[in-house]
Amino acid sequence: MKVVLISGTDHKGSTYHIARMLAEKVTSPEDIAEVFLPRDFGEFCLGCTTCFVKGEDKCPHYERLRPITEKIDAADVVILASPVYCYHVTGQMKALLDHYGYRWMAHRPDERMYRKQAVVVATAAGAGVKSTLKDMADSTFFWGIPQTYRLGRGIAATDWDSVKPKIKDGLNAKADKIAKTIRKREGKVPVPLKTRAFFRIMAMIQKNGWNPADKDYWIQKGWTSGKKPWKQG
Ligand SMILES: Cc1cc2nc3c(=O)[nH]c(=O)nc-3n(C[C@H](O)[C@H](O)[C@H](O)COP(=O)(O)O)c2cc1C
Repeated sequence: MKVVLISGTDHKGSTYHIARMLAEKVTSPEDIAEVFLPRDFGEFCLGCTTCFVKGEDKCPHYERLRPITEKIDAADVVILASPVYCYHVTGQMKALLDHYGYRWMAHRPDERMYRKQAVVVATAAGAGVKSTLKDMADSTFFWGIPQTYRLGRGIAATDWDSVKPKIKDGLNAKADKIAKTIRKREGKVPVPLKTRAFFRIMAMIQKNGWNPADKDYWIQKGWTSGKKPWKQG
């Protein structure tokens, strides 16, 4: 199973440690690709909306983003990991996610997404884990990934070495549970009602969509005439 681990910081702190631990429970090290932000991508969205209207390949950052996009597309499991900064993801994680707005279900989701699984990972010194996990889970859901698991907590520390063994054990146990579920669902990821319902609504809207780039995409995929991206063939 291929895993991509996208870290919302350049440094290997508590959040990275937890995300890496999980990745290694899911697959072997040679199947784990890593991305560090902003080292591997540090651009802010310019707000030109070119990706939505003219195509993602016309984004001024398309070439710089491409290696990350290819890693995401090739992965069976996408791990997004960010420490809590002021109750939310780091600026660099948000800047990356903004560049994939065109891939949201309301626009042009990639069909490969519907067979992947995702994990969002966050740590805080104290509070803000829930809202930070949601920041990332919103993207994985709207990209079309049917299953997103959440792993994170306040760790009462600002570095991994100072985290109490009891907290580390708890995170380890939770990571074990998530990894087991991911392995069990490999190749047959359940698509929940929420994803199916949202997709169906989008298919109806796209029939008469306002944006030709999105509308043509949906028609060409056959999604406006009943085809579903999570069904093979
Ligand atoms: C700019 C900044 C903002 C932070 N905001 C919060 C916060 O809102 N709530 C909190 O509990 N901890 C906050 N922290 C602490 C980190 O979330 C915490 O130390 C986290 O475990 C660091 O993860 P890392 O080791 O992966 O970098 C903040 C730290 C920084 C540098």
